[in-house]
Amino acid sequence: MTLSAVLDRIDTDLPAALDRLFDLLRIPSISTDPAYDADVARAAEWLAADLASIGLDAAVRPTSGHPMVVAHGDGPGPHLLLYGHYDVQPVDPLDLWHRDPFDPELQEVDGRKVIRARGAVDDKGQLMTLVEALRAHKAETGALPCRITVFFEGEEESGSPSLVPFLTENADELRADLALICDTGLFARGVPAITTSLRGLVGEEITITGPRIDLHSGQYGGMAMNPNRVLTRILGALHDDKGRVQVPGFYDDIIDPPAEVLEGWTALGFDADAFLGEVGLSLPSGEADRTPLERLWSRPTAEINGMIGGYTGAGFKTVIPSKASAKVSFRLVAGQDPAKVRDAFRAWVRAQLPADCSVEFHDHGAAPASAMDISHPAFAIALDALSTEWPGKAAYIGSGGSIPVAGYFKEVLGVDSLLAGFGNDDDAMHSPNEKYDLESFHRGTRSWARILHEVGQA
Ligand code: BES
Ligand code: ZN
Repeated sequence: MTLSAVLDRIDTDLPAALDRLFDLLRIPSISTDPAYDADVARAAEWLAADLASIGLDAAVRPTSGHPMVVAHGDGPGPHLLLYGHYDVQPVDPLDLWHRDPFDPELQEVDGRKVIRARGAVDDKGQLMTLVEALRAHKAETGALPCRITVFFEGEEESGSPSLVPFLTENADELRADLALICDTGLFARGVPAITTSLRGLVGEEITITGPRIDLHSGQYGGMAMNPNRVLTRILGALHDDKGRVQVPGFYDDIIDPPAEVLEGWTALGFDADAFLGEVGLSLPSGEADRTPLERLWSRPTAEINGMIGGYTGAGFKTVIPSKASAKVSFRLVAGQDPAKVRDAFRAWVRAQLPADCSVEFHDHGAAPASAMDISHPAFAIALDALSTEWPGKAAYIGSGGSIPVAGYFKEVLGVDSLLAGFGNDDDAMHSPNEKYDLESFHRGTRSWARILHEVGQA
């Protein structure tokens, strides 16, 4: 039978597949930092060449930002649009890494093999599960399992500025029956999942200016207002002691998930203590009157992602800084309008500003939340295929993360998305020492091979 031969080939080809992934992981494609622009372009070239080697008609497609990689291949059955992103997050703080983030290594941790490198899970390792599944199918059968369009992005980690223009300009070329997105996680170790909701995101940078220049804090302290003090007072008031965000109107437009979705989540038996325990915590933050999975998947949040102000170097310096700034993000859920949330936040900050301080805002992008339509027959096929491949039974889950492309595929192309991915909570996404379990890479590739095969036959 074709499928078992394809799966066998994936097994025997695993060392070579790892070599290919390591080649890609060695390219420091950090999209948010212009110093790495040439590396981002190099990663796109690498992928286009690799896709061409499988026989796809592949090209690096320029945008006004980082390039997209688009490839086409003919096959039977429905037309599938495969998405992943080849850009990665910055590596700082570098001193917390145990080795060079761009010198990937296969390591053994607690008896499990892990691939250690920036981008291992987010998203190069995951993206390559799609590519390796195609490769195995092509090598074994001489053809692709379905008609395929590959669409790999290089700006996902930096707000996807070129995404909507690119989708709009190339809509006819990219439109497909269904998109398969590989950038999410398992529900738990060994338990596969299809993600049916994603939170949206609003990114804001706020800079408060007080005195014209940095001041001696003895000479001026007691008279001059300190912008660090203004900033921390405002941000300190962002949540009340029940974890609720205090920006007026923040919760007004929320649409709760349907009852059957919430019941499904309850049935998952999420272990909140273990989830927090793994990162050294024990007390849940967030909205006190909501369940853990609601807090993570269907309730909006505000987080202070970074703060800069005054002297932060070695030693000590008695200074009242001229400026203080913070990077703040809001995760949004169904019903919330990103523009409205941004405006409400800005108005709320301005209202709390002392008369002789000023504030500037910088927009770091936004995307609304998205919920998937699971009526396409591929969803039932994928649940079955995932349950066959993995020890646990596949579940529908939500995600607290944001993958703006899912919403834009629907909005711009009219294409629904099926999100499956194989990350584990302990993969240290966006963090030092990021990893991807070898099991995730291997079973992930086999999962896509099964899904592509079954969808192609259906
Ligand atoms: N792979 C993540 C999204 C994700 C996070 C999925 C957690 C499942 C669980 C993706 O690469 C990501 O990090 N997205 C950013 C988007 C932002 C920069 C627009 C995010 O969620 O912060
Ligand atoms: Zn990410």
